Amino acid sequence: MHYSLENPDEHRNHGMEHNPFKALVAPRPIGWISSVSKAGVLNLAPYSFFNAVSDSPPMVMFSSVGRKDSLSNIEETGEFTCSMATELLVDSMNLSSAPVAANVDEHQLAKLETTPSLVVKPPRVAASPSALECKLWKTLEMPRADPARLGNVVVFGQVVAIYINDTFVENGIVNTGAMRPLARMGYMDYSAVRPETVITLNRPVATKDKQSASVKPGPWDGTYR
Ligand SMILES: Cc1cc2nc3c(=O)[nH]c(=O)nc-3n(C[C@H](O)[C@H](O)[C@H](O)COP(=O)(O)O)c2cc1C
Repeated sequence: MHYSLENPDEHRNHGMEHNPFKALVAPRPIGWISSVSKAGVLNLAPYSFFNAVSDSPPMVMFSSVGRKDSLSNIEETGEFTCSMATELLVDSMNLSSAPVAANVDEHQLAKLETTPSLVVKPPRVAASPSALECKLWKTLEMPRADPARLGNVVVFGQVVAIYINDTFVENGIVNTGAMRPLARMGYMDYSAVRPETVITLNRPVATKDKQSASVKPGPWDGTYR
């Protein structure tokens, strides 16, 4: 199968019941976004159009398919947190995506305790092994397939504080595999990173003349390139 999407009328050219796009951009990390409205109502929702996009300063983004409570809250108050969604928390993560009214706090719906943040007002999910506290940098409206309807709105946040459960820090290194981060695949599929699925590779080092390169085999050589 190989099909063009260049023109708007070609978007169903895959000929399948479901659009395969998201199954092909996988695994995607899940930003579990806590926010609070101007009136003080808490909100929690998972977003898999989520990623780190810059590291100095650290910045993350998530993308709202149309207007949702998280986007409205963040536009109102300028702050959010992203807790890491993990295999252990998969059912609560799923429940927190319920399309409930804006006055419902999905932390409570999913029976998740919260813990205050260090810098921002929205709390984090207490059971999650790590969380990023963010301040809104900007939102960006993506192109619309249907000019009459809002498409995706990307929310960019600057990370202003980081929480890491110390249990997962060993010799100054975060053991991400042990946190078992959850990933979104296509359709209703998920995957989880586990310690046994983590692989470590040293980066290629170029020869002096930069015409070739080699990779040091074995464990991490200690240089963070
Ligand atoms: C794993 C997972 C990933 C999701 N990713 C997104 C996403 O990237 N963008 C989006 O708009 N909705 C996404 N959703 C759906 C939202 O979580 C859902 O619409 C939720 O009700 C939004 O909540 P809010 O209105 O409280 O912000 C996802 C749901 C799940 C379960």
